[in-house]
Amino acid sequence: MSDKTVALTDAASNRSTSLPVVSGTMGDPAFDIGKLNKDTGYFTYDPGFMSTAATKSAVTFIDGDQGVLLYRGYPIEQLAKNSNFLEVAYLLINGELPKADEFAKFEHEVTHHTMMRESLKNFFQGFHYDAHPMAMCMAAVGSLAAFYHDSLDINDPAQRKLAAIRLIAKMPTIAAAAYRYSIGWPIRYPRNNLEYCSRFLHMMFEVPSEPLQMSPVAAKALDLLFILHADHEQNASTSTVRLVGSTGANPYACVAAGIAALWGPAHGGANEAVLKMLAEIGDAKNVGKAVERAKDKNSGFRLMGFGHRVYKNFDPRATIIREMCHKVLGELGVNDPLLDVAMELEQAALKDSYFVERKLYPNVDFYSGIIYKALGIPTEMFTVMFAIARTAGWVAHWLEQHETPDAKIGRPRQIYTGATPRDYVAADQR
Ligand code: CMC
Repeated sequence: MSDKTVALTDAASNRSTSLPVVSGTMGDPAFDIGKLNKDTGYFTYDPGFMSTAATKSAVTFIDGDQGVLLYRGYPIEQLAKNSNFLEVAYLLINGELPKADEFAKFEHEVTHHTMMRESLKNFFQGFHYDAHPMAMCMAAVGSLAAFYHDSLDINDPAQRKLAAIRLIAKMPTIAAAAYRYSIGWPIRYPRNNLEYCSRFLHMMFEVPSEPLQMSPVAAKALDLLFILHADHEQNASTSTVRLVGSTGANPYACVAAGIAALWGPAHGGANEAVLKMLAEIGDAKNVGKAVERAKDKNSGFRLMGFGHRVYKNFDPRATIIREMCHKVLGELGVNDPLLDVAMELEQAALKDSYFVERKLYPNVDFYSGIIYKALGIPTEMFTVMFAIARTAGWVAHWLEQHETPDAKIGRPRQIYTGATPRDYVAADQR
């Protein structure tokens, strides 16, 4: 909190208040409006949180105008080049990069919490074979609270850490199980001799009858995508985790709620929607028509993978993913015509005044689906992949929230627009 204040007076009632200015280490300052209603009788109105900071946080910083993304101060480009997903998860949770022994301990803990209980395996049998894997993952993650009573006391830091480790460890196991069930294959156990991403790919694709031949390029590409998706400050799903967390709910319930929020096509569901859109466009020659449709407000169609609430210049994750997309497809020897459609679409939109004026650029989801497809991951699993990675961010924010003294339950107010008081009318007189 700085010494600066902003005075606000309502001329009609002559009520005034002095709003303290809150500044962080970087980024725009904010007015603290906590006492505004008490002092002036006004609420603030900001649907969609266009100008509202809901919390203080030291986890991730974004400068949308400059295309900057920092995890705990480290630029995403440097982490993408030099780090790995588990190290990034450690960084997000603990605030510092781990020393070698700290990383070894963390990796050991995550690796040794990857199994799920046998009875949780049976949960999957309760779903119809064509259930969306996001539905199965959301349910399975929420159900973890029923299995792990030793990590439900949110006032115990050791239990909170254990829950965070469990969530990061078990998400890939649950995700792969959801996929295997949907295609009628037996669920595979996690192999602890493999690293995080190789282990996941193994659980996804290994068949009991023969050894799995897997290109190391695949695990490397997945690891990079997970780094890029690991956190993104107060996005809709993280804000959901925090809102649910503010009620004192257990961590598994909070992350299940985060998965639900991520599923929407305006958020994590966009990567699945991008691939469907590219397949519908089908050929680079149809791109012009798609761009025109996206500009027509009556069409109900938007270019999926385009635009972002915060990035108004470029999404640094999209820049890294675009480069990686060409490299991965080249190394895996995959020739996907959808990549040509995507590149043509990007070029057409970037030249079009509608997209330029509104500062709509490709976001993280635009190219990620093409890479997932090249790795053999089916379209319905794309948002699940996002959820595995974002679990690191969700738990980092949840832990931070519970380390904040005097945290309050999140309880927004409203501008009521309904009927004014009126008398009940008996049924025969309506
Ligand atoms: N295609 C066509 N027009 C668009 C698009 C798009 N993808 N995105 C925004 N616009 C237009 C929108 O119609 C509006 O036009 P106007 O000013 O004439 O009314 C203007 O651009 C501003 O849009 P907005 O909806 O007010 O912006 P927002 O900040 O509320 O929404 C967004 C951001 C990401 C939800 C939106 O850009 C969108 O729906 N994009 C497509 C879905 C998508 O790719 N989502 C993934 C986001 S990144 C990963 C993640 O968060 O999970």
